Amino acid sequence: MLKLNTQNILKTKIGPENGIAESDLCSFCKANGKSVKKIFDSKNQAGYAFLTLPDDNDLAKKIEKFAAEQKKNKWENIVVLGIGGSALGLIALREAVLGPLYNLYSKPRLFVLDNIDPFYTANFFSTIDVHKSLFIVISKSGTTVEPMALYAIARGKFKQSDVKKHFVFVTDPEEGLLRDIAKKDNISTFEVPQKVGGRFSVLSAVGLLPAALIGIDIKAIFDGAKKMRGQIGKSSPEKNPALLLAATQYLMDIKKGKCMTVMMPYSSSLYRTADWYRQLLAESIGKNEKTGPTPLKALGTTDQHSQLQLYTEGPNNKLIIFLTSATFAKDPKIGNVLPKEIGYLNGKKLSEILAAAHAGTAGSLAAAKRPNLTIEVPTCDEENIGALIMLFEFQVALLGFMYKVNAFDQPGVEHGKKITKSLLSKTK
Ligand code: PA5
Repeated sequence: MLKLNTQNILKTKIGPENGIAESDLCSFCKANGKSVKKIFDSKNQAGYAFLTLPDDNDLAKKIEKFAAEQKKNKWENIVVLGIGGSALGLIALREAVLGPLYNLYSKPRLFVLDNIDPFYTANFFSTIDVHKSLFIVISKSGTTVEPMALYAIARGKFKQSDVKKHFVFVTDPEEGLLRDIAKKDNISTFEVPQKVGGRFSVLSAVGLLPAALIGIDIKAIFDGAKKMRGQIGKSSPEKNPALLLAATQYLMDIKKGKCMTVMMPYSSSLYRTADWYRQLLAESIGKNEKTGPTPLKALGTTDQHSQLQLYTEGPNNKLIIFLTSATFAKDPKIGNVLPKEIGYLNGKKLSEILAAAHAGTAGSLAAAKRPNLTIEVPTCDEENIGALIMLFEFQVALLGFMYKVNAFDQPGVEHGKKITKSLLSKTK
């Protein structure tokens, strides 16, 4: 079960100018309790359908069957070609469950190409053995420039007769270029549900197919997401974790001038969760000149030595959300080798040092009247990342109500895509 500690956002801890009165937070949550119900009631409507994704047991079975069949190919590499909502969530899943170094010691490796940097792309394709690789092209629209350009490069490496074996597409159930190519080349496909937006799609085949191919237990991800959804559905407003998070962020922005949100995991495995969250918040709530706390990411302890000075003494315009892990799958212990000047480290596990660093940072920020809260996961595994995903998606849907914006469209992104397309069409 995730634990939420909001002590350091309260007036009693950080003073009236920067902190929220507990009673105000409670009343605001109560006043917005009806939005929780509205979201549940809208679960079959466009956008809100992210809520139903963990119930798709048929999809989980279909993915598991596909992953089991693929074992015979002994793939060295699973290569995802996708961007934004078609990339960030699955990177977060891989890292939360298997850690950032997974590709160095296990196979099949999972690479996600979400940029078209020429040097990187050329090096990637000349380094991996494409004939030992399965390419998953993920694009809901099937028209996004980046994955389509990368698909074209990958496709060019294969004879027509090998295409079916080496490619699988995740795309709109009916429309788009990828759907057309799949029909023509007889390529296996999975769907991005029509009523689910890209950045809310990680619990569909977008995240689950690559995850299953590298051995992640996708049913456990569903279990975690369902448990969190249940908790959100049955909690009273002032104890509802999604509502508390949304209310804190909204009140901090609107009433206390904290127009930036820094997500700072004290766990390398959760760092890319902060990356995924950055997109979720930015694209969903940044809709006019008055809405949209700017999301930033930082890593503990690394960024204590890079960003913390600014957070502690610079402009007091940030809400810091820490993510911590209570336990780690592996946890080295320091031997009695250090001199007495730093001997307090001797005999300590790294997790103890990390926990002390988090407590020190949270405490010093609170002392400097900087609002911060902590979400603790028991450990980084499938269930807990499933729960975190559901928590943050629900929180952002609630923020849509609070800021009175459509959390599920992205007209600013679409416009840029159109200009790029017209520029490229002129330079034939
Ligand atoms: O959240 C979103 O909708 C976007 O970030 C999209 O995921 C991104 O633009 C990629 O779009 P597509 O999956 O259509 O290629």
